[in-house]
Amino acid sequence: MTSAKAPATASSPVSFRGPFLLLLAALASTSVYRHLKAGPYSPPSCQIFRYDCPTYPVSGRVAKGYEGVLEEFKGNFEDGEEVGASFFAWKDGKPVVELTGGFFDTTYSTPYTEDALQLVFSSSKAVAGIAVATMVSKGAFEYSDRIADYWPEFAAGNKGNVTIADLMGHRAGVTFLDPERAPTAKDILDLDSFAETLAQQPHNFGGETRGGYHAVTRGWYINELVRRTDPKKRTLGEYIKEELAGPLDIDYYLGLDESLHHRVSPLVSYPPLHMVFGLFAPTKWQKEPLPASLVDALLKTHTVGHKALIASGPTHPWYEMWPKPYNRPEIWSGESPSFGGITNARALARLAAVMANGGKDPVTGLVLIDEKTIEKALTPLPVLWDHVMGAHLPFATGGWGIIKHLVHGQEWVGWAGAGGSMIWWNREQNLAFGYVMNAVKLQALGDKRSWRLIKAFLEGVDIASGRPVVDRVVGDTKHVEAAPPPV
Ligand SMILES: *[C@@H]1O[C@H](CO)[C@@H](O)[C@H](O)[C@H]1NC(C)=O
Repeated sequence: MTSAKAPATASSPVSFRGPFLLLLAALASTSVYRHLKAGPYSPPSCQIFRYDCPTYPVSGRVAKGYEGVLEEFKGNFEDGEEVGASFFAWKDGKPVVELTGGFFDTTYSTPYTEDALQLVFSSSKAVAGIAVATMVSKGAFEYSDRIADYWPEFAAGNKGNVTIADLMGHRAGVTFLDPERAPTAKDILDLDSFAETLAQQPHNFGGETRGGYHAVTRGWYINELVRRTDPKKRTLGEYIKEELAGPLDIDYYLGLDESLHHRVSPLVSYPPLHMVFGLFAPTKWQKEPLPASLVDALLKTHTVGHKALIASGPTHPWYEMWPKPYNRPEIWSGESPSFGGITNARALARLAAVMANGGKDPVTGLVLIDEKTIEKALTPLPVLWDHVMGAHLPFATGGWGIIKHLVHGQEWVGWAGAGGSMIWWNREQNLAFGYVMNAVKLQALGDKRSWRLIKAFLEGVDIASGRPVVDRVVGDTKHVEAAPPPV
């Protein structure tokens, strides 16, 4: 064996490499710091070097008095909090804010226009609740009816006594599906076979009524109930298309036709470094700490929260971090009324305006839900401790949240979606709004983007009605809850 002498390498002298590495480390940590400190959604060149920052297009209109909403809407983009978003609001049966802006995707080149469609996660639940209320109004069923009256197979596994109100109010004992029943996106397309799977799921708590947010499952069960009770045997998606979206001339889709797929703006992930920081850095260092229930659901796989929020499906490859799987066309094609509604802020706000107006569409005069049904649907259910969200969650019989802490001291009915979308209404003042966006955040009930829009909207209501502007607390959601009772 001959040993060849290694050629002399031009290795940098230690005295040079040291400072070079130090400089590199300083640059890297400065970049990370600036990335974490900036709004999460500007392009990196803009976050780190203030170079190539986009000019965000905004279109739409605001009524007199509501100019402040436009300022805040623009501010969200300028602060790097948005990529593409839309906010629509109504007062007394009239639209007062119609704003759409930013970009369709992170190439930051195609504007996000009113043509864009958005998957809105759990804001879909509010629309499913509205559709169910229209069916109650037409006499298809009562909230107090047992699900098994219409769907005998549902009685399996201690679910025989579960009512439609239980299902709407997230206390039907189908908070989660056992792992072997969690569907793939493809399974959801075969509704007959999927209904058998759903019926077989035993009651999660042995038949005992317990609060447990049916994060993904509620809509699948509602859909089967609708298929069995609608005189025309339509799915919920078909029903909404013909009975709500058609008459109101709005975009709302469950089971999106392929011809419309190109209009869906892809969801933009929360940046991974922000996510790691959110999960592991001390809360006091954070501008928007992640809710404890979400951190637990992500990290503790034995919890009810994990089973409900993460493991009930649709299943997807492990390396596809949320919300990536929801950018897949097969998800858009399936009907998942709890998380798969594809719509826009115009549609959500219009539906909320119908509810704020007592079930009667303020534009066409169509009565979608009669007064008797509205009163029943808005009757609060007993408040239960929710084993998924780790809080006492007040729900109306119709399945919407009733909250007093989004806007301090005001009662709002509706719901919100993971990532940030919202649909809420207030009947006393006949107020309604819808908010959608493609860039997701990880808060439980809106986030500072929507909160500043809501605050400006309510200030606009004050200004337009000639009242002094009230300085409201909006987004004070850090109300402390007692520890959950032992399960
Ligand atoms: C259903 O309700 C009846 C009457 O209250 C009760 O006897 C029965 O045990 C209940 N069934 C289940 C599965 O909880």
